[in-house]
Amino acid sequence: MKKEGAFNLPSLRMSTRVLFSGYLLVMGIGILMALAQIMLTHGMADGEIGVSVDDIVYSYHGNRNSSKLEVKLNGSMQDKASEKDKTLLVKWAREGATQETWKDVQPIFEANCVACHSSIPGLPHFTEYEATAEVAKTDMGASVDSLTRVSHIHLFGIAFIFIFLGYIYSMAVGINEIFKSIVMAIPFGFIIIDISSWWVTSIYPGFAWFTIIGGFGYMMAFAVMWFTSMYQMWIMPRNGKAYDSNEWFK
Ligand code: HEC
Repeated sequence: MKKEGAFNLPSLRMSTRVLFSGYLLVMGIGILMALAQIMLTHGMADGEIGVSVDDIVYSYHGNRNSSKLEVKLNGSMQDKASEKDKTLLVKWAREGATQETWKDVQPIFEANCVACHSSIPGLPHFTEYEATAEVAKTDMGASVDSLTRVSHIHLFGIAFIFIFLGYIYSMAVGINEIFKSIVMAIPFGFIIIDISSWWVTSIYPGFAWFTIIGGFGYMMAFAVMWFTSMYQMWIMPRNGKAYDSNEWFK
């Protein structure tokens, strides 16, 4: 009978184990950075720490009842105008911030805002319609442009991470072949779910859940493959002999 699987994790030569472990360590740090980044960007989208469905909705669908102008008028700019003026500005934004209605609100900006918003560098200028309309636009979430960019980077990047990780894990011994195959297939399936859910969420906010499920799916698969591979390369007792991966499942 053909002897299969002599190439397995516990009996790899030292140099190969160092190579694989170096890769796993760097990928492990990479995934922690990815988690930190998710927490810092999407995690804070609804103003509260931790990733929630609202964060995903705000990131991809946007907060369509609001605009930067409205958010600021309820936040750091709330003391800059009277309640009446603020209400008029919010109304203008909600009604589409059109050029025709600019003349109605221009004096309010002029009286309350322009002192800073025309002189301080880096602040939007409220002296002209265009720049003002820009902050008054409703938040439409991620644009097609940014979605295509982020999607292709993720698809290529994640496929690359998991082909090597999966290849290393495929040499693990003592694991049911079906279980192994499922763990290896999960990341590829879930990345497709994850990325499609960004696109669908940008239109239908109800799909935000799939982004969380997709992300959680490949994090879990990553953890299983990472810890199993490290354990079998460095900790699992070898008793001085090489394992035959079939010997546990004859
Ligand atoms: C005393 C100076 C000052 C006045 C007056 C002022 N702002 Fe501001 N504004 C700032 C500064 C500084 C920032 C940047 C810090 C921040 O976002 O809180 C800012 C930021 C903003 C932003 C966010 C801009 C961006 O692109 O992130 C908006 C919108 C805004 N202000 C609206 C207004 C409106 C509307 C008024 C008038 C009712 C107003 N501000 C009056 C100083 C001012």
